[in-house]
Amino acid sequence: MKVFDNKIDLTIFLNSLGDQKLSLGFVPTMGALHQGHLSLVSRAVKENDYVIISIYVNPTQFDNKSDLEKYPKTIDQDIDVLNKLEFHNLILFLPSDTEIYSGNFIKDKYDFNGIDNKMEGKYRHGHFDGVATIIKKLFDIIKPNKAYFGEKDYKQLLIVKKLVNILGLPISIVGCPIHRNDQGLALSSRNTRLTSVERSYASRIYEILLSTKELFQYQQLTEIKAWVKDQFLKDSIIHLEYFEIADNLTLTSASTINQSTKYRAFIAVKINNIRLIDNIALN
Ligand code: PAJ
Repeated sequence: MKVFDNKIDLTIFLNSLGDQKLSLGFVPTMGALHQGHLSLVSRAVKENDYVIISIYVNPTQFDNKSDLEKYPKTIDQDIDVLNKLEFHNLILFLPSDTEIYSGNFIKDKYDFNGIDNKMEGKYRHGHFDGVATIIKKLFDIIKPNKAYFGEKDYKQLLIVKKLVNILGLPISIVGCPIHRNDQGLALSSRNTRLTSVERSYASRIYEILLSTKELFQYQQLTEIKAWVKDQFLKDSIIHLEYFEIADNLTLTSASTINQSTKYRAFIAVKINNIRLIDNIALN
């Protein structure tokens, strides 16, 4: 696997591929790679001639300094995992802060029609401007044909689709399903910070989402929300930050059900100050 740590060498390499109508896929990540990330890479490799995976922990999307500092960094292990995939057309981009921000950690400001202020945005101030800033910088360097994002971070996926629209970029954004472990817990780099007891609590998140999906068939939204809240009153280890049922395109919180609209349930919990998010399609 080719590894680039600066944009000039990467650009020279990409230009050397010439205008051979090759398709370039892109998977942006912050590393501490797990099977969720690799499911995006495998799909991108199937659908493109070349695939770039980037690993960069982007400071401008963290509202909390200690969260940024604690973010797991396992570069050597990540390179090993990627090499073992033996994908010959996989390229790793590993830029430094200077390479990306030239010492100026400034966020661009976007109007995402309020999506950014719902749920995640409300709890992580300025988070999505930070995500959009890094994604635009990476798109400008890499200029992919397709970029792959997980439905695990569903709001991020919608924001990136909007960003591409706002900027008029010729990039298709591909949403990929949530990869889970055998207990249903959505894989996340943050899971490595959970103890085994905390992990078993965390796997209740998906059980609750599955029940929500079932209840959605016949119960009122207010009753479902009350039921979910109730599930978290039973113990002090797992704390509910939010639970929402929302339109899957606008993320507007649903008050009544419209048969022609697609809905998703979104949840964020904290276990010992480790924040976990998940979501599920309801219809
Ligand atoms: P990161 O959390 O490393 O995730 C990188 C990509 O992997 C995202 O598109 C995310 O949705 C996807 N992903 C993570 N866990 C997944 C799972 N269990 N199943 C499927 N896909 C999963 O998201 C980011 O990094 C950053 O915000 C980034 C987009 C790189 C910008 O800095």
